Amino acid sequence: MSESATARVEHVRDDALAALARTESTEDLEAWRIAFLGRRGHLTGLLRAVGSLPPDQRRAAGEAANSAKSDLESALAERVDALAAGEGLNTGQDGAIDVTLPGWPAPVGGLHPTTLIVREICDAFNSMGFQVVEGPEVEWDHYNFEMLNIPKDHPARDMWNTLWLDYEDEAGETPMLLRTHTSPMQARIMEEQEPPVRVVVPGKCYRYEATDATHEWHFFQIEGLAVDRGITFADLKGTLYEFARLVFGQERRVRFRCDYFPFVEPGVDMSIDCFACAGDGCRICGETGWIEIMGAGMVHPKVLEGVGYDPNIYTGFAFGMGPERIAMLKYGIDDIRLFYANDLRFLSQF
Ligand code: PHE
Repeated sequence: MSESATARVEHVRDDALAALARTESTEDLEAWRIAFLGRRGHLTGLLRAVGSLPPDQRRAAGEAANSAKSDLESALAERVDALAAGEGLNTGQDGAIDVTLPGWPAPVGGLHPTTLIVREICDAFNSMGFQVVEGPEVEWDHYNFEMLNIPKDHPARDMWNTLWLDYEDEAGETPMLLRTHTSPMQARIMEEQEPPVRVVVPGKCYRYEATDATHEWHFFQIEGLAVDRGITFADLKGTLYEFARLVFGQERRVRFRCDYFPFVEPGVDMSIDCFACAGDGCRICGETGWIEIMGAGMVHPKVLEGVGYDPNIYTGFAFGMGPERIAMLKYGIDDIRLFYANDLRFLSQF
């Protein structure tokens, strides 16, 4: 008989645990507690019945019923905790989770404004058939200057007074530096391939510079180069005009003025009409109605010769711009140092 009394206890215990696993609210838990552990609950009934068992069976049956009781009590406590921790569905009663509360924010990263503008500019040139190429930030004097028609003692080197590497060759020269512009990639690309060439080169540049709102000692440039038979200044103008309209709006006008860079001839600077005042003159354009956005020109015959291209057969144009400056104009950013100050209040706006 005690066999069947303990078996009954086991049976009730299993039923109770299965029912407990199905509870999902405080209400369910209370109903479960009444059904199994309450005054008229199933297990309570078995405990009471122990007294009416034959004396030799009472001990075993009593022990089984008491241990089942403590099992159920601790299972109940565990289930209460689990539901409170949100492991079950909740209906919002006392002690349950308020599902109407806002969740924890999961912060999502974003792209740096420089990355965004570099991509936008490269996309614009991509759509006109330019490939994107990258090059080394640590460069030889040879590419940064010599191949670009800037020999030693050329005054143009002063414009790029810069950061040299602590490395001397046999002649006691320091031939390596952090590149001052992306133009050395013009020579590197032409050395590597035959015309036609159509590339844009985004990348970081460095100059020994006193920083202020418009000067940083490190910044990006995007170089452009197109070389083929029969390329003329009209191609340069048409391509850069299209670029200005893609990035700054279809109604943009452009202006080219003579400028000097040793590796182009003729050289120009290109401006767009001020998108803020439409040319009337305002703070953004310094009251001139025009905003300078890049340097450009026809590739100098000496540069073509240097890489083994025959300047009587091939001509081309090159240009270089500062994407941070483009982003400053486009988004109304008034200090270039913001780009690299790592202030999330600035960065998260993009
Ligand atoms: N490399 C020049 C600079 O850093 C820009 C430039 C590039 C000008 C290509 C003409 C042609 O100022």
